[in-house]
Amino acid sequence: MAASKIFITGASQGIGRAVALTLASEGHHLCLAARNTEALTQVRDEILSAGGAASVCTVDVTEPEALTDRMREADDELGGFDTVIANAGVTVGRWSGKLTYEDIAPILDVNVKGAAATMLALLPRMVARKRGHLVGISSLARYRATPKMAAYSASKAFFSAFMEGLRLDLQTTGVAVTDIRPGFVDTELVAGMKRMPFLLSPDQAAQKIVSAIHRKARVAEFPFPMARLMRTLARLPDAAYERAVRR
Ligand SMILES: NC(=O)c1ccc[n+]([C@@H]2O[C@H](COP(=O)([O-])OP(=O)(O)OC[C@H]3O[C@@H](n4cnc5c(N)ncnc54)[C@H](OP(=O)(O)O)[C@@H]3O)[C@@H](O)[C@H]2O)c1
Repeated sequence: MAASKIFITGASQGIGRAVALTLASEGHHLCLAARNTEALTQVRDEILSAGGAASVCTVDVTEPEALTDRMREADDELGGFDTVIANAGVTVGRWSGKLTYEDIAPILDVNVKGAAATMLALLPRMVARKRGHLVGISSLARYRATPKMAAYSASKAFFSAFMEGLRLDLQTTGVAVTDIRPGFVDTELVAGMKRMPFLLSPDQAAQKIVSAIHRKARVAEFPFPMARLMRTLARLPDAAYERAVRR
């Protein structure tokens, strides 16, 4: 992959930070987006001190108009992004009997509306240029809801289906769409979770994600044993799945 310009949300920590550092080490210019300017500046300085190229873009993906304006400004400043990575995401773990709308609103705002707004902000420009690559970080959670994670699983089901729809429509435009579905990755998002089979480090996840970006894969699922487990669970009849996860 020749040196390119890449916009990535959620670059201040976790998976986004690891992906940004990996791509920057290959010579790409990274535009690092999230809310925490101080953390983004640290990531940028790490990239610059290693001889790479990066800039900071403080954005809140829950403000779609401001996000779109900021992404278009940065697109003008840098002469056009080749790749947009919608990675920012949040979760909440709560038993549905105590779940409130306030609990799940951030998931809808960030993982659904924010992710969609990030994917769409530069899409008309990419279509006009006849090239571009949209990458979304969904999750293996898109296959089945898991206990206490109703809204998170639903948000990732939306995002994966949304990306499939975009891919169908964009087939002849030169714009590629890559849906990345990780299993458990050791970041703040899952801190406190008890059972995390086949857990990966952020760097291990970043290697898989960057490889999928290079290949312009339609879908990338990892780690393999977790992906196989989730695909098997998806095929179980509902009653059998409910019994399997009942405490
Ligand atoms: N960790 C896992 O096991 C796992 C598995 C599958 C998929 N994923 C997905 O991978 C992605 C990254 O997750 P992670 O594990 O790296 O989580 P993380 O360490 O908690 O990082 C989340 C990132 O999202 C950003 N973010 C959150 N709300 C935002 C907002 N309103 N506007 C802009 N940025 C916002 C955060 O930055 P600021 O706080 O600075 O804004 C942070 O950089 C998410 O989409 C997640 O669903 C994670």
